[in-house]
Amino acid sequence: MNANLQVSSSQYNDKGNLLLRLEEAQHRLGYLSEQTMGELAESLGISVSEVYGVATFYSFLSTRPQGKYVLRVCKGLPCCLKDSHMVISAIEAAIGIRPGDTTPDGKFSLELTNCIGACDSAPAMLVNSELHVGLTSRRISRILKTYE
Ligand code: FES
Repeated sequence: MNANLQVSSSQYNDKGNLLLRLEEAQHRLGYLSEQTMGELAESLGISVSEVYGVATFYSFLSTRPQGKYVLRVCKGLPCCLKDSHMVISAIEAAIGIRPGDTTPDGKFSLELTNCIGACDSAPAMLVNSELHVGLTSRRISRILKTYE
């Protein structure tokens, strides 16, 4: 076996520990700042770039401050086939931001995410941890109003 491909069990534990620590930090602080990622890297004895790589890989982690309500529109294939682009356009029209942005008042952030496990009711999105399925332009408008 190629020595470069061998990964010790402690490396797996470090990676799992890193993800748990990132999730905990985001839950506590709202997002992962450069300072937070630097402190995590130092405490785990790994590089900041490795921490940043994991923090930016997972769509549920954010390196930017997020709005009070984070809209995560699924971009998985079943949702695309059920017109998730309409969902994104309807949200953009309703609150005036594009994916990756936050409204100036800090109320909403819009993100795209991979499958959220609701393919049978596509298109789907999460608002924070609340799942919304079978989305239409009209439903999106009503849903957004419930978060006013
Ligand atoms: S692909 Fe959208 S919920 Fe699975």
